[in-house]
Amino acid sequence: MNDFQNDLNITSPQNDSTQLLAIALEIAAEDFQDQQMQMLRNFSHELRTPLTIVYGYMQSIYRRSENLTDLQKDALESAILEMSYAIKLLQECLDLARLEVRETSLKIASIPLQSLILETIATFNKLHQREISFNSYESCVSVLADGEYLKEVLFRLFDNAVKYSKDTISISLDNFGDYVAINVCDRGCGIDIQDRERIFKPFYRADRSRSRLSGGSGLGLALSKVLVERMGGNLNVTSQRGKGSTFKVMLKSST
Ligand SMILES: Nc1ncnc2c1ncn2[C@@H]1O[C@H](COP(=O)(O)OP(=O)(O)O)[C@@H](O)[C@H]1O
Ligand SMILES: [Mg+2]
Repeated sequence: MNDFQNDLNITSPQNDSTQLLAIALEIAAEDFQDQQMQMLRNFSHELRTPLTIVYGYMQSIYRRSENLTDLQKDALESAILEMSYAIKLLQECLDLARLEVRETSLKIASIPLQSLILETIATFNKLHQREISFNSYESCVSVLADGEYLKEVLFRLFDNAVKYSKDTISISLDNFGDYVAINVCDRGCGIDIQDRERIFKPFYRADRSRSRLSGGSGLGLALSKVLVERMGGNLNVTSQRGKGSTFKVMLKSST
């Protein structure tokens, strides 16, 4: 309906049927997505169990590898690595599908941000030797979120910042009153404009040549976005090619 029709509140039978068709298509698309997610959920669940068993057997053979030749040991090491990659991928598919079909429920509460961010940085630093600075002028700010899942989201954003940049990563907070933004900022390679929406889709990786090197599956941002949206917030990015990226987690303020 154009502005003129809107002003006069004119509807025609043709407009009604177009709207009905649009609604029907939207429902069909949602049904289709639900079915896809159910399939992904069942598929990853069924496959994860046997692969985990095989992975366990392979590790136990490796632990008793005195009788193996160097070639056999190398082959077994590669197989174990590939298997752990496949299991991690299946686990992420399962997590995403369970969130999408609303099988996973979140515990939303008022979460003080400063301590949560400091805890996440401390956990992250046990695994990665990279400086993460956090200057918070908003020491008492709290948001509505699931604390454990929010840590997971930040961890994934830190992990990406480490993978795609070399310098210090900076975390900051912006308080907009109703909303609070957690900014995860790096000075790395940046993201091309055409990729900035797509990187939040499952399996999309802007630089495909890196996929085996960095070991990522392209599911981290898709999972993070769904999680933040389930907390009533949103996740987006601003970036400049060659200069870096800032991922912004926006959450409802609870103070
Ligand atoms: N901080 C970043 N700087 C540059 N590119 C990034 C950054 N974070 C994510 N990306 C791009 O977004 C893609 C998707 O990220 P993600 O879903 O976390 O998957 P993965 O880390 O497994 O590749 C990455 O492959 C990369 O191309
Ligand atoms: Mg990632």
